[in-house]
Amino acid sequence: MTQTETVAFPQNRTCPYHPPAGYPSTSRGQQPVSRVRLFDGRTVWLVTGHAEARSLLVDPRLSSDRENPAFPVFTQRLAKTSVRRVELVGVDDPEHRAQRRMLIPSFTVRRAAALRPSIQEIVGRLLDAMVEQGPPAELVDAFALPVPSMVICALLGVPYADHDFFEAQSRKLLRGPAGSDVDEAREALNEYFHTLIARKRRHPGEGLLDELIAKQLETGSVDLEELVRLAQILLVAGHETTANMISLGTFTLLRHPDQLALMREGAGVPVAVEELLRFLSIVDGLSRVAVEDIEVGGVTVRAGDGVLLSAAVINRDASVYPAPDELDLGRGARNHVAFGFGIHQCLGQNLARAELEIALPALFGRLPGLRLAVPAEEVPFKPGDTLQGLVELPVTW
Ligand code: HEM
Repeated sequence: MTQTETVAFPQNRTCPYHPPAGYPSTSRGQQPVSRVRLFDGRTVWLVTGHAEARSLLVDPRLSSDRENPAFPVFTQRLAKTSVRRVELVGVDDPEHRAQRRMLIPSFTVRRAAALRPSIQEIVGRLLDAMVEQGPPAELVDAFALPVPSMVICALLGVPYADHDFFEAQSRKLLRGPAGSDVDEAREALNEYFHTLIARKRRHPGEGLLDELIAKQLETGSVDLEELVRLAQILLVAGHETTANMISLGTFTLLRHPDQLALMREGAGVPVAVEELLRFLSIVDGLSRVAVEDIEVGGVTVRAGDGVLLSAAVINRDASVYPAPDELDLGRGARNHVAFGFGIHQCLGQNLARAELEIALPALFGRLPGLRLAVPAEEVPFKPGDTLQGLVELPVTW
């Protein structure tokens, strides 16, 4: 292994589906755990080895507590907003376990399977609207964002009548440049969930929120503020992620016509989706802070050190995935960390898989001539300090 010099983190991707070339990589003979520099000059650890990442993600000596002042943040903007309580993904056991236990029944494989007909209907309706409108279209707005937005509304039990408002706010969260749009949207959703929960307490309906109100809020297991924050986390976690996977997944398939042909021929869609998750690794830079010293990958991480895990590089570890930079929809990409690993492993992964397994084949099936409406180099994609994905995807067919 060669010594890695201290590089900056995060860096922008140069191609929307490949990790930044400037990150250290075990596949190029570099250390599996190395030092990187944040925007404020602080150095933290960056984990890029697959084995090291899997062992660290189950290690209780790493904390997810965003209120810890040593918790690594990526930009000045995030530094201002991130020192706040974040339920579930931002709390440690035993508190985390209690929150997760409340939600698990709603996110099982069976629950996701039961939602498939609704997802199919949502996807079909959106494609009908695209066909009716005629080409060209902007795929993020027309399809990639509304699919998860409508699915999460159905899951939570948000009334369809509120759907426009709900989507507008999540679009601000998704698209909002720096500051104010995002804060405004957060505030509006906070107010919205308070009103919705009050309404549901008077007139219970069907959905995850109704269940949580009946089983947790009314019994005193959670208070109102915690429930509102949980609802917001579910919305945000389930939304932009899936939207980015749909848009970037579409773009990537269009750029790999041989692989797209395999999917069109009906080759195993779940296996293909798994490879897209590995290959795109849209949640790059999982963040933690060490609360005790840890020996890993030949280094000592000290208590108080920040630790980042680059899912994009970890999922390209050549010792686990031969020819890792090739998209190979049939490879059966097991044990990737695109959904994380350990206690915080994505709660919505069954639902996300169902959405992707339905949305991508339906899109290419319904619009067989689907292609980019602009040169690939002109498709705008997101900077390295956020979830990876496309800002817009102009298409025609
Ligand atoms: C393809 C889409 C998705 C991707 C790539 C993704 C990725 C991730 C990752 C990497 C984590 C772990 C974060 C960490 O360890 O710090 C995570 C956690 C989480 N995800 Fe997802 N996610 C997706 C879709 C969803 C959906 C649809 C939902 C729910 C509706 C969801 C809800 C959550 C929640 C609640 C957590 C926190 C779990 C915990 O801390 O126990 N995600 N996700």
